[in-house]
Amino acid sequence: MELKGLLLVVSALSLAAPTSQYSCGQRSLVAPPGLSRIIGGQEAHEGAWPWQVSIQIQSRHHCGGTILNHLWVLTATHCFYKYLWVGRAHFRVLAGLTVLSAPGDHVQSRSISEVRMHQDYDDTTYDNDVTLLLLSSPFNFTDHVQPACTPHNVTHEVALNFSHCFISGWGSSYYKGRQLNRLQEAEVELVDRTTCNLSTWYNGLVTENMICAGQESGAVDACQGDSGGPLQCYSEDEERFYVVGVTSFGEECGLPHKPGVYARTSRFAGWLKTSQTSSASAAAHRPITGPICALLTAALMLL
Ligand SMILES: *[C@@H]1O[C@H](CO)[C@@H](O)[C@H](O)[C@H]1NC(C)=O
Ligand SMILES: *[C@@H]1O[C@H](CO)[C@@H](O)[C@H](O)[C@H]1NC(C)=O
Ligand SMILES: *[C@@H]1O[C@H](CO)[C@@H](O)[C@H](O)[C@H]1NC(C)=O
Ligand SMILES: *[C@@H]1O[C@H](CO)[C@@H](O)[C@H](O)[C@H]1NC(C)=O
Repeated sequence: MELKGLLLVVSALSLAAPTSQYSCGQRSLVAPPGLSRIIGGQEAHEGAWPWQVSIQIQSRHHCGGTILNHLWVLTATHCFYKYLWVGRAHFRVLAGLTVLSAPGDHVQSRSISEVRMHQDYDDTTYDNDVTLLLLSSPFNFTDHVQPACTPHNVTHEVALNFSHCFISGWGSSYYKGRQLNRLQEAEVELVDRTTCNLSTWYNGLVTENMICAGQESGAVDACQGDSGGPLQCYSEDEERFYVVGVTSFGEECGLPHKPGVYARTSRFAGWLKTSQTSSASAAAHRPITGPICALLTAALMLL
């Protein structure tokens, strides 16, 4: 009798979990990161970063993002904060994409049904630069479209003892340059927070909610158009990738002692959880905050 009960529970669980075919942070088309380092950026292989999305405004790449599960995408608040007036209907989220101009058969496009910006986002310091997007319909997971893992908390982030970290995106390869057509990737090193905060580096701008990554020489960095996209690190123990950061800001791109600064996912584990479970109507009825109100008014006056 007890065994039967257990079996029923197990089958109910598997029905409720359509993710079972693809667990997070694993890519089926590309081998795990090897010992050789990538110096500078390079073109990403198809399927290398199956959780990377392109968030587009009227079919133009605007920001990157990371698939967390069938319905939710993680991105940066600064990608939406000043663009709310554009209207959700003009945004699309594309997954399974490598070449912007040639989407191909593996691409899945979804519209956005809700934008949940972090309530404590600060547009002058970029603190709490995380936003969740609720998709209008779920992504279907394939070899080209998969979710990334997120650290459960700060302790977990440290315990994962990451060996290789990568950034990816369609951002320009130099400051004020043009966007690239093919997804790029680069290996980066996590920079100690205290070092990154030194007066000769970011001079006190780095909070506990941020993580710095790059190379001290500045040869490798995220740049414009990479915003919102993943800083993803590989756990050799678990053989999977975690999204450790969300591309947030940097001083120009690739300058020495000015690595990329990323919103530190492990600090938002609780927020990610509650924001995904709080009901849509509760969020919709939250009053619009002052700056957004002012922005909307400004946008209306422009029209
Ligand atoms: C996703 O899966 C659903 C259900 O299996 C199917 O109806 C739909 O066509 C699929 N969509 C895409 C874009 O593959
Ligand atoms: C952090 O996450 C780990 C792994 O899920 C868990 O075992 C641990 O209890 C968590 N610690 C705290 C302080 O929440
Ligand atoms: C972390 O990984 C390195 C190799 O990348 C290894 O030498 C070290 O022992 C690991 N530390 C822990 C605590 O597992
Ligand atoms: C960075 O420096 C500023 C100014 O000294 C300080 O207030 C802040 O706490 C520091 N951040 C971290 C993560 O130590």
